[in-house]
Amino acid sequence: MENKGVKEKTMEDGVAAMAACYAGFDPAAYLQYNYTAPRADFSRRDSIVPWKLGCLHRAFTEGVQEKTMEDGVAAMAASYEGFDPAAYLQYNYTAPRADFTRRDSTVSWKLGCLHRAFTEGDISGGLLVDVGSGPTLYQVLSGCEIFERLVLTDFLEVNRRELKRWLQDQGKSSLDWTPYLQHVCKLEGRGALAWSEKASRLRAVVSDVLPIDVHRPQPLAPGALPSPGADCLVSCFCLESVSPDLDAFTRALGHIGGLLRPKGHLILIGALGESFYQGGPGVQIPVVPLDEAQVCSSLKQNGFTLMRLEVYVLPDDMRVGVDDVSGIFFVKARKE
Ligand SMILES: C[S@@+](CC[C@H](N)C(=O)[O-])C[C@H]1O[C@@H](n2cnc3c(N)ncnc32)[C@H](O)[C@@H]1O
Repeated sequence: MENKGVKEKTMEDGVAAMAACYAGFDPAAYLQYNYTAPRADFSRRDSIVPWKLGCLHRAFTEGVQEKTMEDGVAAMAASYEGFDPAAYLQYNYTAPRADFTRRDSTVSWKLGCLHRAFTEGDISGGLLVDVGSGPTLYQVLSGCEIFERLVLTDFLEVNRRELKRWLQDQGKSSLDWTPYLQHVCKLEGRGALAWSEKASRLRAVVSDVLPIDVHRPQPLAPGALPSPGADCLVSCFCLESVSPDLDAFTRALGHIGGLLRPKGHLILIGALGESFYQGGPGVQIPVVPLDEAQVCSSLKQNGFTLMRLEVYVLPDDMRVGVDDVSGIFFVKARKE
């Protein structure tokens, strides 16, 4: 008890001594010492006052920025509400864009890039994940030969259902993938007749069709992938067509990068200079218009080393009015 009384007294003395120090406090001098140059030099970002003001500004606007970001992402999700898989397939995956007699048709170009990427001999491992598969299968027709396990993913249940209909061979697909299977078999030098073997291979290696949201730091449900991550990721026309702006695109690229093991490969295909596409009759989906430099910079910011970049400029007769895309990029990169 006695000790406690002594401690309290000492504390009071200390506080009283501090108060006594302030007896001669001179506001004008204090301001002069701390709030004029060099400490308040607004031409230097490293002077003390601009640093403090910057911190305060960020602290009080972070909430606003986060809210704006969330609103942008929510608006994108809303624009997908009327997405119509059958119409999307019809717009993009039939002639003229999918004309296998022409090497310069959009789909022939994409399948050629994918074939080369997966036969160069540097991509290997057990697990391939396709991010934002949509209702399409063309993007995994080459990779399915290399990997023992393939996971397809999409945000929309209608797209996951479309994929499952083909995988379960119920004969109710909105698109006949046979010419695609035949074309990739030809690229592999197997002859078009091997197409049914490729179809069986694809059905055998797809283990899951999972929901995904690339705007979440963890885009898949916890535990969906083994802990080191996938050996390779494919993602086609997803990130730019689900992001409200370039920052969101770059962030989403970082999120999906988290699904990939270190040194794993990323195959990224996407639209250049596109501001919208039709997701169905009367469904206009906004897209971030990208150029090659922005794609390269986003990859670099997320720790990817670019191995190959190819660009396809749409011939006039492939501009069919279902979007305003001017070109397509193909990227092969490696995660550091
Ligand atoms: C332009 S489509 C691309 C489909 C297909 N990969 C292709 O190459 O045609 C974009 C896809 O992104 C999906 N998507 C929408 N929001 C998403 C999100 N937040 N995360 C992941 N995918 C999303 C859509 O459902 C749609 O299937």
